[in-house]
Amino acid sequence: MHTHSTENDRIQAAYKSASNVYHKTPGGDFQRSSVRHLLVDLDPVPNPGDAVLDLGCGTGIGIFMLLELYPQVGKIVGLDLSPQMLEKARAESAQLDHPITWLEGDGHKLPLEDNSFNLIISHNAFHWMTDRAKVLQELNRVLVPGGRIALLFEGAGARENQMSVRRRVLSKYGLTPPIGYGTAHAHDSEVAWNTVSAVENLVEEAGFQIIDVWARQSYQYIPPELIVTMFRSTNAYWSSGLSQEQTESIMDEIKNEIYTQATERGFREIMYPINVIAVKP
Ligand SMILES: C[S@@+](CC[C@H](N)C(=O)[O-])C[C@H]1O[C@@H](n2cnc3c(N)ncnc32)[C@H](O)[C@@H]1O
Repeated sequence: MHTHSTENDRIQAAYKSASNVYHKTPGGDFQRSSVRHLLVDLDPVPNPGDAVLDLGCGTGIGIFMLLELYPQVGKIVGLDLSPQMLEKARAESAQLDHPITWLEGDGHKLPLEDNSFNLIISHNAFHWMTDRAKVLQELNRVLVPGGRIALLFEGAGARENQMSVRRRVLSKYGLTPPIGYGTAHAHDSEVAWNTVSAVENLVEEAGFQIIDVWARQSYQYIPPELIVTMFRSTNAYWSSGLSQEQTESIMDEIKNEIYTQATERGFREIMYPINVIAVKP
């Protein structure tokens, strides 16, 4: 198990490079529709002036969707580990009237006061975090009683098609297959923390009452170049000790497999988002 800081260094390295492509891809449209799905049916809807935190806000798509759906909300904080992702978010929010604080920080140790938010959203970020019980405790701490979390993250088996290509190629070279993109990521975990029932336990143990949990497996056709770019951005997980040349040649092999399997529609991938809405009593 890596320490948080090592893991955070790798995540920062991954998103430093991912920030350049994150928004421009068809994957971005998929992200927008899934974040909409998470937020659109919030019941009750946020009250005027409610304070909202987006944990792992990245380039800000969750916050921008939230403002489209619920422009009445008050203070908004977008928190992320990656300064480059935040930079993109900051640039995009410059045209908005609503003030948003973009804050660099770690979900394991929120630089935020107790009882200071009514709603916390987190879209596709929770599965990156190593100590999820700790993160949930932090979310509980900064919420007011009656405040809610709305989380969406990858369930066990998500993205298995691309992960199995990477696992197969890397193990040919005796390299330890990375655990997904991060140590804590959904894939390859010895014991899946991210099944619906395990997640329900985790959330309840952190002191929340669950309002709703839903998960649905589907398929998405992803442009192969996007998968290769994302793999490339996470090389830090497996390439230490290899020369640049060796790393490139292994990447080429992964790339070839991804392109070989892709059809005109793209590379067929398994999507399995788990959505959780819960309240702090
Ligand atoms: C897949 S992106 C999702 C970004 C955004 N929420 C979206 O839906 O587009 C995951 C984000 O989680 C952030 N992240 C990972 N671990 C984190 C941590 N411990 N604390 C805060 N942010 C973290 C990454 O920097 C990255 O921007």
